[in-house]
Amino acid sequence: MEYKKLTNYVKALGGIALLSLVLCVFLFLFAYQQGTSANTVSAAEAQNDSIINHVADYIPVTFKDDNEGQLASYGEKLIKNTYDYFYEDGKKIGNNLACSNCHLNGGTKAFAAPYVGLHQVFPMYIGREDKIESLEERINGCFERSMNGRAIAENGKEMRAIITYIKQVSARTRNDKRLEGQGFVKLELPDRAADLKQGQLIYTNKCLSCHGEHGQGQKNPNAGGYLYPPLWGPDSYNDGAGMARMLTAARFIKGNMPLGATYEEPLLSDAEAYDVAAYINSFDRPKKADKDKDYPNLAKKPKDCAYPPYSDHISAEQHKYGPFNF
Ligand code: HEC
Ligand code: HEC
Repeated sequence: MEYKKLTNYVKALGGIALLSLVLCVFLFLFAYQQGTSANTVSAAEAQNDSIINHVADYIPVTFKDDNEGQLASYGEKLIKNTYDYFYEDGKKIGNNLACSNCHLNGGTKAFAAPYVGLHQVFPMYIGREDKIESLEERINGCFERSMNGRAIAENGKEMRAIITYIKQVSARTRNDKRLEGQGFVKLELPDRAADLKQGQLIYTNKCLSCHGEHGQGQKNPNAGGYLYPPLWGPDSYNDGAGMARMLTAARFIKGNMPLGATYEEPLLSDAEAYDVAAYINSFDRPKKADKDKDYPNLAKKPKDCAYPPYSDHISAEQHKYGPFNF
C-alpha cells in the first residue's frame, strides 16, 4: 500500500516535470517569436540600442535640439557644403569641393572613407607624418591636401563641430579597431603599368558625362560648389592628397564610381579602376609645398606615392603608374 502511494507520487512528479518542460519550450518559442518580430515590426525600438559592426548597417541619426546636437548639425553643414565656409577677406581658402564629395553621404557610406566609428580609431599612427595623430590632425591633413587649403584651428568652433558630427554618426559603434566598411575596398592589382589609353577610353565612356571632357566637373547653378566635382585642374585636390595616389584613387573609384557603384555592386573591374585612376591623376593639379618632408621614415612611404624622395631605386614614373610588383 505504502509502496503504491510512493509510485503514484513519483508518477505525479514526473507528470509535473514533463508539463513544465513543455511549458518551458512554449515560453521559449513565444519569447523568440516576440524577439524576432520586435526586430522587424518595431524598427524604431530596435534602433535605440542596436550596435552596428559594419558601416553598411549605418542608421541615420537625428540630432537632438541641445548644444551638442546643434554643434553636430553645424558640423554636417561644414562637411556637406564645405565650399560655403572657410573664407578670408571674402576670398575662399582652398578649393570648392566638399568633404562629402569623397566621403560620400556625409561620411556615412561604406568604403568611401566613412567617418562612422572613426573617433574610436583615433589617435592612430599615420605614416605620412610618422607619428600618432589625433582626429583633428587627420582632418587638417584633408584641409591642406584634399581641399588644397590650410589647417584650421584645432580648438576652434568649426573643428569642434566636425568632431561632434563624427561622434554623432558613430553613436552606434563600439569598435576599438577599424570597423568593417571603413577606408576603401581592396583591389587585385594587375601586374603591369597602368594603361593610360585604356584609362582614357573608360573615362570617355563612363565618367565624362558627369565630370566633363576636361575633368573640370560641373558647378552647381543654384548654390556654391559642384553638381559633379572636378577630377583635375586648379580647383581639384592637390598633388599631396590621398586621392592623388593612383591606388587610393582606384580603390575609391572601384567602390563608388560611376555614381551608384557600391562595394557589393561595383560597376568597374579592378583593372578598369586601376587604369582610369591613373588617367585622372596624369593631369596637372595644384602643387602642395614641402612634400619632400612627408614620410620622414621613407620605409613607410606607399609604393604609389608619386613624389620623391624614395628609399628604393624605382623611378618616379613607376611609383606613379606601376607596376607595383616591387
Ligand atoms: C578629394 C577627396 C577628399 C576630400 C574632398 C576630403 N577627403 Fe578626407 N580623405 C580622402 C582620402 C582619399 C582619405 C584616405 C587617405 C589615405 O588612405 O591615405 C581621406 C581620409 C580622411 C580621414 C581619415 C579616415 C580614416 O578612415 O582614417 C578623415 C577624418 C578625413 N579624411 C576628413 C576629411 C574632412 C573633414 C574633409 C573636408 C574638410 C575631407 N576629408 C575632404 C579624400 C578626401
Ligand atoms: C552620374 C554622374 C557621375 C559619373 C558617371 C561619375 N561620377 Fe564621379 N562623382 C560624381 C559625384 C556627384 C561625385 C561627388 C559625390 C557626392 O558629393 O556625393 C563624384 C565624385 C568623384 C570623385 C571624388 C571627388 C573628386 O572631386 O575627386 C572621383 C575621384 C570620381 N568621382 C571619379 C569618377 C570616375 C573615375 C568615374 C568614371 C569611372 C566617375 N567618377 C563617374 C558623379 C559621377
